[in-house]
Amino acid sequence: MAQYDVIIIGGGPGGYNAAIRAGQLGLKVACVDKGVNGGATLGGTCLNVGCMPSKALLHASEMYDAAANHFGELGIDVKPSLNLTQMMAQKATSVGQLTKGVEFLFKKNKVDWLKGSGRIAGPGKVEVAGPDGKSETHEAKNIVIATGSEPSPLAGVEVDQVRIVDSTGALSLPKVPKSLVVIGAGIIGLELGSVWRRLGAQVTVVEFLDRITPGMDTETAKTFQRALTKQGMVFKLSSKVTGAKIGKSDVSLTVEPVAGGAAETLTADVVLLAVGRRPYTDGLGLESVGITPDKRGIIETDHWKTSAPGVWAIGDVTHGPMLAHKGEEEAVACIETIAGKAGHVNYGVIPSVVYTSPEVAWVGQTEEELKAAGRAYKAGKFPFTANSRAKINHETEGFVKVLADAATDEVLGVHMIGPQVSEMIGEYCVAMEFKAASEDVARTCHPHPTRSEALRQAAMGVEGWTMQA
Ligand code: NAI
Repeated sequence: MAQYDVIIIGGGPGGYNAAIRAGQLGLKVACVDKGVNGGATLGGTCLNVGCMPSKALLHASEMYDAAANHFGELGIDVKPSLNLTQMMAQKATSVGQLTKGVEFLFKKNKVDWLKGSGRIAGPGKVEVAGPDGKSETHEAKNIVIATGSEPSPLAGVEVDQVRIVDSTGALSLPKVPKSLVVIGAGIIGLELGSVWRRLGAQVTVVEFLDRITPGMDTETAKTFQRALTKQGMVFKLSSKVTGAKIGKSDVSLTVEPVAGGAAETLTADVVLLAVGRRPYTDGLGLESVGITPDKRGIIETDHWKTSAPGVWAIGDVTHGPMLAHKGEEEAVACIETIAGKAGHVNYGVIPSVVYTSPEVAWVGQTEEELKAAGRAYKAGKFPFTANSRAKINHETEGFVKVLADAATDEVLGVHMIGPQVSEMIGEYCVAMEFKAASEDVARTCHPHPTRSEALRQAAMGVEGWTMQA
């Protein structure tokens, strides 16, 4: 039986960053992970069957779409043909390199990787059931739960990973379906729906609410839906799927209006179920330390401490957005607290990104949230049609919107839709972390010509002096 300062259960972005930070701080640390999808790899959902493979396919399919539909206007005449096997292979190669990278970082920071399923076996004890069927119990002063989340099921829609797939199945379809119905207009549905639409599928998205991407600023979401519709995605809002029947070569879905009324049948080659994710704590032995998750499976914490002494929880198993970088923030703060330092997460500055085309990125509060809180604010907005770099690249869809406190000018929220905004939102994360006023950004020199000038022009708009639109 080995003894550790910290044992982390789960090797995704929460778990592996916690392990690395613990190693850096000189704690004796182990990370238990069984590998995702049957493979003995670190990195969790994000690296193996989430963020990384989806971004690999989003990038490749965007290149394909550009070659097929947009190169001509640049004076490049090509007729691309799809090699899906190679597209999947390059995805697997990159993912493999990244998971090996985490393994390397574990070695570099003296983190023991305990391969197998981890289970809390009473206070200070973690039992690891290895792939060889043997179990070992280890002792730890601190146990960090970082087991992440899994796709939420939907009654009447059974995932078989062939005809009805979840995000994992949708990352590895063996051929492009003629038709794809996506259930849920959230980030997963729209990103993976975009991949298969670009590669040739007719994509219909069924959404329960009367809008797409709940949580996104409403004006931005409307612009986003218009852009996706123009690309050929079909939306059925205010609709719920109440049943699915798998046939020989397709799936029949029963779809009903949420408000009541006649049901209709939609058929598709493949159905992607993407109605959210839920915390993953199956078989974790929480009862052995007296932890009871809430109805949604979420573990309550106070500064990452659970109700059980010496047991901590971070990432998707706790409250907050299910985002890799939120888990990473909590990982660092939790381990620094364990090490006797002052761990801190600024939950007001956790950015969100949708990696479609156009991309959507935001940080801070939406207009709806500010209105609901009764906070007086001013808005500055700048369209990419007026940005020179976007114009010369023929990527003029979208805008940047900056929301700032009416009295103090502090930046409260920033919402962007447009080309590569994922790479630009970080500027406003830094600004907000430093409690910048919109004027601070408006008076900061930005390189010309770049898309980032739109960030500055939108900030100027807060005080009504946008110069280039
Ligand atoms: P989501 O919560 O973003 O969206 C789920 C959507 O399904 C919602 O619009 C919801 O109203 C709808 N829905 C729920 N039940 C339904 C039903 N019965 N019929 C029709 N629609 C229904 O969940 P999603 O897209 O599955 O993503 C899960 C998590 O993963 C989210 O927290 C998301 O932020 C995260 N994620 C983040 C990514 C990123 O940062 N780029 C990429 C992929 C996932």
